[in-house]
Amino acid sequence: MLVPPPLSLYVHLPWCVRKCPYCDFNSHEQRGPLPFGDYVRALVADLELDLPLAWGRTVHSVFFGGGTPSLFPADAIDDFLQQASARLRFAPGCEVTLETNPGTAEHDRFEGYLAAGVNRLSFGVQSFDDGCLQRLGRIHDSAQAEAAVKQAQDAGFDNFNLDLMYALPGQDLAMAEHDVERAIALDPAHISHYQLTLEPNTLFAARPPAGIPDDDLAWDMQERCQALLAAGGFGHYEISAYARPGRQCAHNLNYWRYGDYLGIGAGAHGKLTLGAEQAIVRRWKLKHPTAWLSAAGTDAGIGGDERIPPGHRPFEYMLNVLRLEEGFRLEDFEARCGLGRDVIAGPLADAMRQGWLQEQDGRILKTALGGRFVNDVMELFLPEAAGPEPTPA
Ligand SMILES: C[S@@+](CC[C@H](N)C(=O)[O-])C[C@H]1O[C@@H](n2cnc3c(N)ncnc32)[C@H](O)[C@@H]1O
Ligand code: SF4
Repeated sequence: MLVPPPLSLYVHLPWCVRKCPYCDFNSHEQRGPLPFGDYVRALVADLELDLPLAWGRTVHSVFFGGGTPSLFPADAIDDFLQQASARLRFAPGCEVTLETNPGTAEHDRFEGYLAAGVNRLSFGVQSFDDGCLQRLGRIHDSAQAEAAVKQAQDAGFDNFNLDLMYALPGQDLAMAEHDVERAIALDPAHISHYQLTLEPNTLFAARPPAGIPDDDLAWDMQERCQALLAAGGFGHYEISAYARPGRQCAHNLNYWRYGDYLGIGAGAHGKLTLGAEQAIVRRWKLKHPTAWLSAAGTDAGIGGDERIPPGHRPFEYMLNVLRLEEGFRLEDFEARCGLGRDVIAGPLADAMRQGWLQEQDGRILKTALGGRFVNDVMELFLPEAAGPEPTPA
């Protein structure tokens, strides 16, 4: 039986001051003044359109992602959160995160975000090396990143994340370690540490910059930085995520545990479990901000809807939970996928035989070897690899 999991709300705010050459997110360079009021009205209409997918359910986390949400003034965020909470029940202590570009930060804004109900910030720092930041096409330098974090702390934020990237053009091992040390010195609750990837359809993919570290050096950077983070008190809980005890990102954890989420705003994706129909649906919105703005709240604003066939659920589930150090329990697999554990018995046994997965205290976890070959482990659960379409339990 499919059992509806916790529900989150993702809100996409799609504009940036400048498009970074490595970025494939749905982000668009700002040209002239942004239509904050219209965008918030459209978000509320979009939310109303999706509400029938989540009747009666409680929201456990909200995430304003981008793009650069910190381009939005605090009163626009406040307006949206007030209108959303009149339409949806928010759990007590609901985590509300806002992504922030250090190049757009102002002290008054942080106080305003806090007053609006934002209780977690995520700063796109990337590096503390000004040469690296320049080669990444960022609009900020390291001094601005440190100043933005201090302003947020002064305004009262203690729960914040710093995004770092490694394997950057021109970066050596010592530089990657130094970035992590400077991040830890700012006393964040959480650090995300991503390997730079050359995403298709980006400027970097078309013309890769010189000096990108090779795979061996990138692996050394990951291992050394992970050791520094562990020594600094940050537990590794997901491939790229590290947190102080109790400070894991509730919103992202819900994605990785194959939870549900409403996705509103240009290009946002949602995934919802419909208990009565025993179905899992995905819905996504028109990608371009202008097109989405003029159609939001109507069926024309929906980019697509699909039901996830039972045979595709095991791979989707593994794609998420195998990112986590905590792994998963077979009963969670059954409740979230609506399938019996027998459906994955074959690929699971295969993964254990290869030494990629192990069972520990009732949980299925990656081994150290499985961590190095996580994509291969996930692929064992692809529909064609796992056999014929299963019958829902
Ligand atoms: C959606 S971005 C939003 C943050 C904010 N817009 C910013 O960049 O300051 C979230 C994070 O993804 C990471 N990221 C973006 N593109 C990436 C890439 N090509 N490879 C690795 N990490 C990437 C960056 O660390 C970035 O901060
Ligand atoms: S600021 Fe962030 S979202 Fe915007 S283009 Fe750069 S990486 Fe992408």
